Amino acid sequence: MKKVLLVFQLFLLVGLITAQKSSTNLPAYKNTQLSINQRIADLLKRMTIQEKAGQLNQLNGGVFTGPALNDPGQKGKVQMVRDGKVGSFLNVTGAKETRAIQEVAVKESRMGIPILFAFDVIHGYKTIFPIPLAEACSWDLKQMEINSAISAKESSAAGLHWTFAPMVDISTDPRWGRVMEGAGEDTYYGGLVAAARIKGLQGNLDDAAHIMACVKHFAAYGAVEAGREYNHVDVSRVALWNKYLPTYKASVDAGAATIMNSFNVVDGIPASANSFLVDDVLKKRWGFKGFVVSDWGSFGELINHGYATDDKDAAMKALLSGSMMDMESKVVVEHLPALVKEGKITMQQVDEAVGKILYYKFKLGLFEDPYKFSDEAREKAVLFSPENRAVALKAAQSSIVLLKNNNQVLPLKKSASKIALVGLYAKSKEDMFDFWIANGDAKDAVSIYEGLQNKLGAGSIDYSQGYNADNTTSETLINEAVKSANNADVVIATIGLSGKLGGEERSLANINIPEAQIQLLKALQKTGKPIVVLVNSGRPMVLTQIQDLSTAIVQCWILGTETGNAVANVLTGAYNPSGKTVMSFPYAVGQIPVYYNHFNTNRPAPDPGDGAWKSRYRDIPNQPLYPFGYGLSYTTFAYSGLKLSASAIAKTESVKVSVNVTNTGKMDGEEVVQLYIRDLTASIVRPVKELKGFQKINLKAGESKSVEFTLSAKDLSFYDANGKTIVEAGKFNVFVGGDSKNTLMSSFDLK
Ligand code: GLC
Repeated sequence: MKKVLLVFQLFLLVGLITAQKSSTNLPAYKNTQLSINQRIADLLKRMTIQEKAGQLNQLNGGVFTGPALNDPGQKGKVQMVRDGKVGSFLNVTGAKETRAIQEVAVKESRMGIPILFAFDVIHGYKTIFPIPLAEACSWDLKQMEINSAISAKESSAAGLHWTFAPMVDISTDPRWGRVMEGAGEDTYYGGLVAAARIKGLQGNLDDAAHIMACVKHFAAYGAVEAGREYNHVDVSRVALWNKYLPTYKASVDAGAATIMNSFNVVDGIPASANSFLVDDVLKKRWGFKGFVVSDWGSFGELINHGYATDDKDAAMKALLSGSMMDMESKVVVEHLPALVKEGKITMQQVDEAVGKILYYKFKLGLFEDPYKFSDEAREKAVLFSPENRAVALKAAQSSIVLLKNNNQVLPLKKSASKIALVGLYAKSKEDMFDFWIANGDAKDAVSIYEGLQNKLGAGSIDYSQGYNADNTTSETLINEAVKSANNADVVIATIGLSGKLGGEERSLANINIPEAQIQLLKALQKTGKPIVVLVNSGRPMVLTQIQDLSTAIVQCWILGTETGNAVANVLTGAYNPSGKTVMSFPYAVGQIPVYYNHFNTNRPAPDPGDGAWKSRYRDIPNQPLYPFGYGLSYTTFAYSGLKLSASAIAKTESVKVSVNVTNTGKMDGEEVVQLYIRDLTASIVRPVKELKGFQKINLKAGESKSVEFTLSAKDLSFYDANGKTIVEAGKFNVFVGGDSKNTLMSSFDLK
């Protein structure tokens, strides 16, 4: 009976739709009572296998407006849209651009299915925010959500439905240019940041101000050997489950609409065709309901990996693993019809994948109104608004990390009325941005030079270039800087790397401060003036060499549109720096990977103490130059009275951890109170510290606050090699402090 009813319903449905056919080919789903799944079922019934393959095909876009629509260069792509062979474009942006090609899809293809438009909005679309690594140093999850919401608001006003963000790869290797896209070395924190960013980007995906997130790169891309881009990855299952997978799991739990395959292999199988990752973990264990998109060409690159013999084999292996949309390798649109005909891929498998993509096109409301995101008036009103820039300033200043401040040289004193501002990066706006500048425009940004002028007036700033863009310098440049320094009360030297060396395909084997900049600092030091060093970089560099060449060191990262105003607010004390680094700063490149949650080994070297026959280097310390969670303020904080509510708890109970924090300085300030644990004995060795909580608090000068955390058995758990959650009785140490090294300690037993 049920079957008859269903068949009748479908006939009714087809009849309804045929009757309501609008002027376009788009199935008339306006004001329908049908569920999204019913509409998907109807579409799938009417689509050819070639059209289904088209929905799984994402092409790199181009210019599609005006004559370009008929431009021979683009003609092929436009014809593919007419033939129903394109489900999505990346890198087509703008209300006008997207509308133009959407009209071709909706009015000139047989099924009239709308296109999804995607773009890498990694830290802002037009208003550019601090790079994610810098933003994460604010430890302000709400702010990160707000930043992402603004990125989504601008993107969605520019015709976009989807961004390839957040990147949630955990990495402990600053030689890898992509550390700038993540949230640092800690898995627990990385998961919370991922969830905040997804929430900001997506909202509930029920309005035109939010866009789909795409969590990447699944999985363990941050573990590339030697920090070399696109390199081999070989991690144990224990590391995979405990260090790398949890940030993706947190993203799935946060409702991420899509996931992107990574380029690398896991267990020797490329992630794009890895059924353990895509089918077993993502879908079966985590219940992921969205769709999976490849990274650029990664389906076709299965051949380079030596995992597929040709494009057709690559398409088959990728799809059979559960991966779905093919970004730019075109192997699916080319070979899927034949693979189905030969029975190598079932129509059910195809429909499952295509259905998920159609689901999001319905969810975004594109069938009701394919142009709802392509509204030029909204685009003009929303992009780069003063309100958006004000938020970007707030985000930027709270991302800055004060690493050193001898003699309280900062904040700048009123008496320091003459400033020698030295270094190309103080003025060069191009070098203030990384690879992922999206549709931001460097010339719209505020340079450090402009920011200081805005704050202190032009008369107090004397600029000298100091070095060239190619990191060379000259006697002339150095003498000019020294002359300026001799006439100043304080030197502000901007050094580091061009932001252009941050992002994809920007691995560096040498992350020391460039020799020319060291030469410049040595010359400046001879003037005897206090030197405030600002570091412009998308990664933690090795700052060991500038320890003796600086009075203060401010890690400015890559801060985006409002760089100059944010730096000026921090240097003048208008904003008391509160950032804490989320990646360790290596003492030397040879020390990499160096991270706080390391393992004790069989022979831990005492710190300090005799390291003979212990795990150590003969030439450098084991410790990083600056540890995870470290950052100074213009005030000071004291920790006391660490207390636990119990000395032992059962697995069904929790323990409260409380500590007093006092602002012992003269300035109001913010402090990130961090909670760590250590599982002293377990069936799998556990790190010497694990972050399990943090609270960013405001304290007025002299004020004290009691800060409380709760630890439950879940916080004490870990995964075994099979991904099973383990909770074991035993002794745990608890640490609380303002970074991962200087902490108060107590302990308790889990029964
Ligand atoms: C790149 C990156 C990925 C990005 C994609 C689209 O190769 O690996 O992060 O989202 O291609 O630009």
